[in-house]
Amino acid sequence: MTTHADSWSADEHGLRTGARGDDALVVRPAARLRGRPALPGDKSISHRALLLALLAQGESRISAAGDGEDVRSTAGVVAALGAVVERIAEHAGRVDYRVVSPGGGALVEPDRILDCGNSGTTTRLVAGLLAGQPLFAILDGDASLRRRPMGRVVTPLRAMGAAFAGRRGDTLLPLAVTGRDRLSPIDYTTPVPSAQVKSAILLAGLAADGETRVTEAVATRDHTERMLRARGVRVHEELAADGTHTVRLDGPATVAAVDETVASDPSGAAFWLVAAAIHPDAELHLDGVSTNPTRRAIIDILRRMGAEIEEHDRPSPGGADGEPLADLVVRSSTLRGIDISAADVAAAIDEIPVLCLAAAAATGSTRIRGIGELRHKESDRVAGIADGLTALGAQVRVEGDDIEISGGRRLVGAVTETLDDHRLAMTFAVAGLIAEGETVVLRPGSAAISYPGFFRELQGVRA
Ligand code: S3P
Repeated sequence: MTTHADSWSADEHGLRTGARGDDALVVRPAARLRGRPALPGDKSISHRALLLALLAQGESRISAAGDGEDVRSTAGVVAALGAVVERIAEHAGRVDYRVVSPGGGALVEPDRILDCGNSGTTTRLVAGLLAGQPLFAILDGDASLRRRPMGRVVTPLRAMGAAFAGRRGDTLLPLAVTGRDRLSPIDYTTPVPSAQVKSAILLAGLAADGETRVTEAVATRDHTERMLRARGVRVHEELAADGTHTVRLDGPATVAAVDETVASDPSGAAFWLVAAAIHPDAELHLDGVSTNPTRRAIIDILRRMGAEIEEHDRPSPGGADGEPLADLVVRSSTLRGIDISAADVAAAIDEIPVLCLAAAAATGSTRIRGIGELRHKESDRVAGIADGLTALGAQVRVEGDDIEISGGRRLVGAVTETLDDHRLAMTFAVAGLIAEGETVVLRPGSAAISYPGFFRELQGVRA
């Protein structure tokens, strides 16, 4: 399909999908932004709640889960492995699930390929879970997922005793897993900080005889640790003075069935934080967002850039091991460029694309170091964000694994290529709220991967 900016025009609200369904979205500048956009349930927590419900024997209820395609992929895998997965209610773009499982050790060997869709988290966490189950299964996904590196989980899980076979030397999907009911524990240092790799090893560690240890150079999101503890598993964490983080888990261990209420996703909230901060007349309210120390970096980085973000703490429904929550209020701000370290990047890994937009709208220059890992996400996000922001008139320079964005230029509407990547689609749509003229977001439908109602909310906040 070829699309030119001038073949698309926006309606009076400045927002419209193209004539061919969701082929393109046109966004015009918004005069003002106000309101309380509905946020998705946190994607990371939703995946884990479903997978831990699969490992727990009996009934688990999961309220306000994310209802994006990635979480649905996990729900499909959980059902294929023998649990009854019921969608009992839907509200504001979220879903309540009831899961009844035979529990770890009694799962069903799937009679078809497990479809992980576009979801790296589903693939890697399920690989870890299956390593410790005496079953044969094949994991597969879409074209993007088939390009993503799986060697990072295969190497440690194989060392624990599971068997893997896949394309390109067992590093790419489709990937066959043969698990075992008893694994060897491992003491593993992850080559790149990755919560997915850490979580895969911890899930396998539930079936290991003895203590499994995972060490990472910087602490990545800790939902698996918190949620395992809440389900009766002994998990210990140590943070060294140099920032090195070690997690220890005593296996074998049983996961108890526990109900979960899912927090609002800070990675989804990030689009609104940036939208309001870069817009000249904005005030947005974001309710019940996880402010988990391993997820809140986007709030703190934007504040360092000058963003006006109020934070009102809320009691966590999950008790001591639950997620800290806050209601956020973000207003029009004057942003300035800053230096963002590789540790900041690890802590805000999914928010870097929209943070690059904030940098483009700031005064002065922003240097973000150590962004190489973004090349291995749903798309090559380094190329995708550099090309999209450059098309919009920003000055962007990529040097090895660093990106430098010189702010202070007026963004001008252009055709942006999303590479079918949800975070790029939402970033370019937000750019359209301030760019002069029309911004065309090609193939924006991928937003449904993590935030199905995003464009409706975008329409709502500009009204
Ligand atoms: C996730 C971890 C991150 C993140 C992904 C979700 C998780 O991936 O990018 O969107 O839920 O554990 P990596 O662990 O590969 O950095």
